[in-house]
Amino acid sequence: MSDGVGPPLALLAELTHRCPLRCPYCSNPLELERASAELDEAGWRRVLGEAAALGVLQVHFSGGEPLVRRDLAALVRHAGAVGLYSNLITSGVLLDRARLEELVDAGLEHVQLSFQDSLPASADRIAGLADAHRKKLAAAALVREAGLPLTVNAVMHRQNLERLPDMIELALALGASRLEVAHVQYYGWALANRRALLPSIEQLERATETVESARRRLKGVLTIDYVVPDYYAQRPKACMGGWGRQFLNVSPAGKVLPCHAAESLPGFDFPSVKTASLADIWYRSDAFNRFRGTAWMPEPCHSCARREIDWGGCRCQAFQLTGDPARTDPACALAPDRALLDTARENDAAAPVGDFAYRQFGTVPVGESRE
Ligand code: SF4
Ligand code: FES
Repeated sequence: MSDGVGPPLALLAELTHRCPLRCPYCSNPLELERASAELDEAGWRRVLGEAAALGVLQVHFSGGEPLVRRDLAALVRHAGAVGLYSNLITSGVLLDRARLEELVDAGLEHVQLSFQDSLPASADRIAGLADAHRKKLAAAALVREAGLPLTVNAVMHRQNLERLPDMIELALALGASRLEVAHVQYYGWALANRRALLPSIEQLERATETVESARRRLKGVLTIDYVVPDYYAQRPKACMGGWGRQFLNVSPAGKVLPCHAAESLPGFDFPSVKTASLADIWYRSDAFNRFRGTAWMPEPCHSCARREIDWGGCRCQAFQLTGDPARTDPACALAPDRALLDTARENDAAAPVGDFAYRQFGTVPVGESRE
């Protein structure tokens, strides 16, 4: 065991990158794994067993859209058998009654459903899929009918932030117990769409007031999670609760990552569940130890009082903005590269709203290479 490192709390099982939606802020890597490269059911069963043995408590079945996997219920059942709490993170558009019954029977314990907007036409445009919003509403109703707890994930940005009050009402009407108001994070595909997505400071201030007053009003009814977006923060968030501290991500092909965007970082050879055990990877791999703890930190982080609070912010954002994943995250006002973030924010938030560049298999954003 590395000094002071305990077991991970949760496993994010990215069963597939396949997805019927084409959200312009998709956080999956630019290069998506094909179905033929995905771990098979036996491979995922082994991952779930190893995760439980390592001390993981929860598995989040995610993607892409995990419902495209026909073996999802079998994996949920196996998760329960090895003692893991299972949560399904889904767009909901493929969830029908029969599928949900199968999952409930397998022991699924929680569903997290994403919504793109409260207005159907806008929601479908953002998702890049006709009729998506109606299908999501139907999926939410099925989840509640089945008695499963529901979290609504509202991804907010410049083109829907004005409707945050309606999104809160939507979550209430759907019977959600939790609402995650998630501002878009600018890496992966979202970075290519930053100009179309980055809100203004005025929009953000209104949103923060909306959340604060809804929290007071809905105390005990709806829990609202809210994090100020990095581009307007003075200090970064502890991305993933710190590198290699709480989460393991397993990609569709079986790569083990400290976060979902880590494959974009240069100079890493992320280990695979096909060639090493999860325990070995968690405690002993270079990939997990490289930015773990505080020893790797440059100044000003190294001598900062917050170094064990935010763990230096986000390595992927540091790389996206500075070209070096070991730099201080420019989301910190103390970072030597803060001006990069300030300039991007001022330029993009002041620019006319751009069109979305939609993601789909086989495309990468303009200006990005396939290497
Ligand atoms: Fe966090 Fe580093 Fe900024 Fe301190 S200097 S607040 S540790 S990012
Ligand atoms: Fe990779 Fe933040 S998304 S460290």
